Amino acid sequence: MEEVAQRIREEFLEALQQVQTLQELENVRVQFLARSGRIPQLFDLLKTVPHEQKPCLGRILNELRSFAQERFDERKRVLEQSVYQRGESLDVTLPGRPKPLGTKHPVTQVMEEIKRIFIGMGFSVESGPEIESDWYNFEALNFPADHPARDMQDTIFIAEKILLRTHTSPVQIRVMQKQAPPVRAIMPGWTYRNEATSARSLVAFHQIEGLFVDRRVTFAELKGTLVAFAKQFYGNSIQYRFRPSFFPFTEPSAEMDITCYICGGKGCRICKYSGWLEICGAGMVHPNVFRSAGYDPERVTGFAFGMGIERIALLRYNIDDIRILYENDVRFLKQF
Ligand code: DAH
Repeated sequence: MEEVAQRIREEFLEALQQVQTLQELENVRVQFLARSGRIPQLFDLLKTVPHEQKPCLGRILNELRSFAQERFDERKRVLEQSVYQRGESLDVTLPGRPKPLGTKHPVTQVMEEIKRIFIGMGFSVESGPEIESDWYNFEALNFPADHPARDMQDTIFIAEKILLRTHTSPVQIRVMQKQAPPVRAIMPGWTYRNEATSARSLVAFHQIEGLFVDRRVTFAELKGTLVAFAKQFYGNSIQYRFRPSFFPFTEPSAEMDITCYICGGKGCRICKYSGWLEICGAGMVHPNVFRSAGYDPERVTGFAFGMGIERIALLRYNIDDIRILYENDVRFLKQF
């Protein structure tokens, strides 16, 4: 019996040594220490041995039982400790889990930068509805009744005389109706044209309108403002020029070009080998526009300008097909 006890002790120690988890430890407990385990079974055997051997064997078995229990408890403490550490502790040396962050759409980025520059020059930001009346979109802006821009080809009509604005210029009228002069505002937003989608044009796109009205505003201030903008946005070293142009709502009208910053003015595919890029339309507000909005053209003058945002984004990021901006391809968008 003494030998049996010795063998059980060795087997118990061996089993305990192989234990890696609390579950395995529990199996060892069932096998050796639980009610029907091998050690309590030895105690049952004790009843069958001759009376005079009982004290001695009893001591051996008691010693075995408390030895096993102690080793068991110790192993349990160690395992519980390591489980606790695996589950709860924080290893500050581990690399962080990256959280995928989206990026701002290139058109949004361009829009925000243009806004930032004009806000810095004292302009406020205004907005108006995308569904407009014929009056705001054309009539109030001095478009003659037979102007080709009113043609069904270019304008998306929703109902008789109700349309999707073809430009942000009608917001000029709304801003002037709402406030007395002076006005210094930019008006960004979606605009719509009934045109075939191609590498160069979209049905829905963005413009930013600008309006500056006060007493005795001159063309010099128009130029100064747009040049200050262009230098901040495109860089100090650009050259610029103003070409005469025509818009019904401005007189005189102009278009502003800057030297192509892709080729530096030498001529390339982007500037169609002219060395120049057109960046906006502008002009002195037509007296009829002031009259539509309820301003007195004898008392105020002003200038306005408008630019297409997608076009600017294409140039800035050297993209050659405008459609890719709105395909929502994450592989494209995450480059910005
Ligand atoms: N509304 C014009 C367009 O869509 C752009 C424009 C030109 C706006 C001259 C202006 C301006 O305010 O003065 O092509």
